[in-house]
Amino acid sequence: MNLSSSHAVLAAMAGITNGNFAAQIFESGCVGKVTIGGYSIGKEMINAAVELTLRGRNEFPIQLGEEANFIAQELDKLPSKSNTIVNVRLNNPEETLSFAREFSERISVIPIIEVNAHCRQQEILEKGGGQNLTQRPETLSRILSIFKSKDFPTSLKIRGNTVDPRSFSKLVNDWGIDYLHIDSYRNGIEGTDLTLLTSFTNFNQSEVIGNNSVVDQRSAKAILDTGASYFSVARAARKNHDFFCSLVKDF
Ligand SMILES: Cc1cc2nc3c(=O)[nH]c(=O)nc-3n(C[C@H](O)[C@H](O)[C@H](O)COP(=O)(O)O)c2cc1C
Repeated sequence: MNLSSSHAVLAAMAGITNGNFAAQIFESGCVGKVTIGGYSIGKEMINAAVELTLRGRNEFPIQLGEEANFIAQELDKLPSKSNTIVNVRLNNPEETLSFAREFSERISVIPIIEVNAHCRQQEILEKGGGQNLTQRPETLSRILSIFKSKDFPTSLKIRGNTVDPRSFSKLVNDWGIDYLHIDSYRNGIEGTDLTLLTSFTNFNQSEVIGNNSVVDQRSAKAILDTGASYFSVARAARKNHDFFCSLVKDF
């Protein structure tokens, strides 16, 4: 498959991919969707973000109760809300419901909501968030269904090698989400695990966003060749804000 900007997605980087960063990348015209976040929602996830900040990690500084307002203001900076993905860290359905209600009242055009079941920082994991959500499928299912009930298109971000592709895809197919975003990294080895990604594209009915180690046209194209609908990029776009244009300019 040839590369085009519509296949390209800016992936989340907490503390970095804010509204201005994502808007600048989107306005280059070389990317189809951009992500803002990850944003921590609710008491425990916000406390975890504070703990992460204290040990030097980049985080977005959100006050409890201000989540919907803060994110809506960031979203306002984006020229195309429907092509914006909002990456959120949550660990319980109750706070998800209050957030989803408040956020949908605060915005006029709905973005894609991406539930972060990817983060593996200890502070997040010990409160049942991030990657731990894949071990709590009932909670994850409820969180996703709350966003769906408010008409948000939904994405789920996971690390591919933390679940069984076949059985997890069966769950995802039952949940009926729009996008499955897979960080298909290989333990200890640079590059994307294309075999793992192919298992997900085979078993999944949602559109797959393939992620990890896209550094050039070849690595981006390899992800699309697994059957993924999109490839996403984080670190290379942080280093070089023109990265997406360097990928798609010849097509
Ligand atoms: C500084 C930094 C912060 C990140 N924060 C998040 C986040 O908040 N949510 C998320 O889903 N992924 C986050 N990621 C993971 C990236 O979105 C991506 O999955 C990972 O970096 C692999 O893609 P890459 O090889 O293109 O960088 C972060 C990555 C980096 C480098």
